[in-house]
Parts: sequence; C-alpha cells; structure tokens
Amino acid sequence: MEKHIAVLPGDGIGPEVMTQALRVLAAVSEKFGHTFTTEEAVIGGAAYEAHGEHFPDATRAICAKSDAILFGSVGGPVSELHLDKWKGCEVNALLGIRKAFSFNANFRPVKVFPELIDICPLKKEVVERGIDILFIRELNGDIYFGEKKFFEKDGRRAAMDVAEYTEDQIASVANTAFQAARKRSKRVTSVDKANVLHTSKLWREVVHEVAKDYSDVALEDMLVDNCAMQLIKDPSQFDVILTTNMFGDILSDAGAVLPGSLGLLASASINAEGFGLYEPPGGSAQDIAGKGVANPIAQILSVAMMLKFSFSLQAEAEAIENAVSSALAKGARSGDIVQKGETAIGSVAMTDVVLAELA
Ligand code: IPM
Ligand code: MN
Repeated sequence: MEKHIAVLPGDGIGPEVMTQALRVLAAVSEKFGHTFTTEEAVIGGAAYEAHGEHFPDATRAICAKSDAILFGSVGGPVSELHLDKWKGCEVNALLGIRKAFSFNANFRPVKVFPELIDICPLKKEVVERGIDILFIRELNGDIYFGEKKFFEKDGRRAAMDVAEYTEDQIASVANTAFQAARKRSKRVTSVDKANVLHTSKLWREVVHEVAKDYSDVALEDMLVDNCAMQLIKDPSQFDVILTTNMFGDILSDAGAVLPGSLGLLASASINAEGFGLYEPPGGSAQDIAGKGVANPIAQILSVAMMLKFSFSLQAEAEAIENAVSSALAKGARSGDIVQKGETAIGSVAMTDVVLAELA
C-alpha cells in the first residue's frame, strides 16, 4: 500500500514524540511492505513563528493533499501565554483544522492496560471489572461554533456563546457511533442534558431515530451530570459513549485519567468522507518539553489508529498495539507511569522497547 501522510508535530513535546512515532511507522511499513511517504507542516506556535498564523494556508494545503494527518500537539508554556505567539493558539489551530476538514466525529478510546492497573486512580475492585470505553464526541457544532460575543447589558459587561445543533449534524455522528458499537460490544450510551437544553432534546430525538437502523445495538440515554458520576463510580458499565462537543470535551478528560496518564491515549477526528486526523489528546506538556522524557506511547498509538481507521490496516495497527502492551508488560516505564521502585526511561528508550517487541 502507498499512502501520503501530513505530519504536524506542533509545539512542546509534539516534535519529540512525533519523531519516535515515525520510527514506529517506518518499522511497520518495512515489516508489512508498505510505502508511507510523509510531509511535514507547521501548526500552532511553530506556525505562528513561520507565518504569523496558527493554522496557515500552506499547512492546510499539505493536509488537503494527504491521505491522513498525523498531529502532535499545540500550545505554549504557562510563562509565555501572554505573547502573541501563544494567544488563541489551541483554538485557532485545533478548531481551525477541525472546521477546515469538517472533522465531525472525535474518537477517544480509554482503556486501562492490565499492566498498569496500579496507576489507575480508582479502587482496584472497580478497575478489575475492566475499563474499555470509546468516547465519540461530536466535533463540529454546539457551543463551540455558535455565535459568540462580548456585549453590554444594563451598563454591565456580558458575554454569550450560542449552543446550536442541526439534525444532520447529530444524525451524522450518531451513525458513526452506532457503526463503531457494532464492532464492539454493541452498546451505545448517548449523553445529553435533555431535562434542560433544547439542543439536547433534539439530540435525544435524532439519536433515537438513527437507532432504528441499528436494532442490533442497545441504546441508553444518560444525563451528563449522572454520566460524570458513573464514570468515576462504575466505568465498566460503558462501551461507546456518544455525546455532544462540549460534554464530550469534559467527559473524555474525566475518562482520560482512568488509564493513569494522558501519555497513553490516542484520538482520531474523522469526517464524513473518512478522512482523518490522529493525535494524542494530552496537550503539549511544555513543562517537560525538550528533555526527552515524554511518554511517546500516545503518539505511537495515534499511528496505530491512523493505520486502522484511514488505511484499514487492521493487522498492522494491532501489531503496534500489541508491541506497546508487551513493552509495558516487560516493565518499560516513562516518567508519567513509573511507580515506586521502578526506573523511568526516556522517549527514545521507550520507543526502542516498542520497536524490539514489534520485531
Ligand atoms: C481538546 C481541547 C480543545 C477542545 C481546545 C484546546 C480547543 O481541549 O481537543 O479536547 O476543547 O476541543
Ligand atoms: Mn479537551
């Protein structure tokens, strides 16, 4: 197979973990006989330095002619956030690219590795029931993209963000979720706030209409406040969680602490044509950037997701996932997942172990 990949390392730990992930991509292509060509482009603060914009046209053009986008992370260090380079960086880069390619479904799988059960913040008896959740978050609508403004009301400062959904936006991501559930344990929990919000009432109505085409998948509704509670109390009850842009942002971060480190999570943003962007949702971690200590697993697993989702290379993706699991089983630990008595290794050494397991 021949594919062309746009590589957007971005800021912070992005470039260093991307370098490691590309080593894994090269090893997989060699092992399975594929040709993956890559083209690098700037995004975020790195793009601002080069072009004065966080998501420049040149980057958009490189993405547009690629078969998939591999994304690192964007955002600046706390001490520099007042600089123009970092102002609006995440919003301009991330929301910009999501809008540009109509990425409307965001897949955020959350799995607790059996090898790392001890670093899950929940009680062992809760974790041992197994945690394997796929968050599917709508990514193109809701309060993120509705009208927003600052204004004056009765001489006082006021602000507003409009939450808006169309039935087509809801139906599209609902279809995505039901199809994903078919490949898993055939259960979807749709999360909304239908007791209060009109957008949620419409959400619930449309999700149930779409569900009629998936009679083999069980659908349950859950209110978002209850879902937040259940995620901590009994996360094993969930399989696919389908939800809105805003709720998905919050709930998926709550879910993301379950594996014990953000450095273990990958995500995919997909549009209706199946074009996708793959990224670790963990952020640029500027505090540890440039030290060679960042956990490369999230970026490596993003490569696996790309192979699976964009190129339908199931065996290749599983080879990477299995290599990561074996590396963890053999005791390879980066600083974010190290426990008392264990020794932390850096990004390169961690990737070396994954590559050895892959071979
Ligand atoms: C995410 C991030 C973004 C979001 C921000 C940085 C714009 O939190 O990818 O989850 O809210 O979607
Ligand atoms: Mn978020």
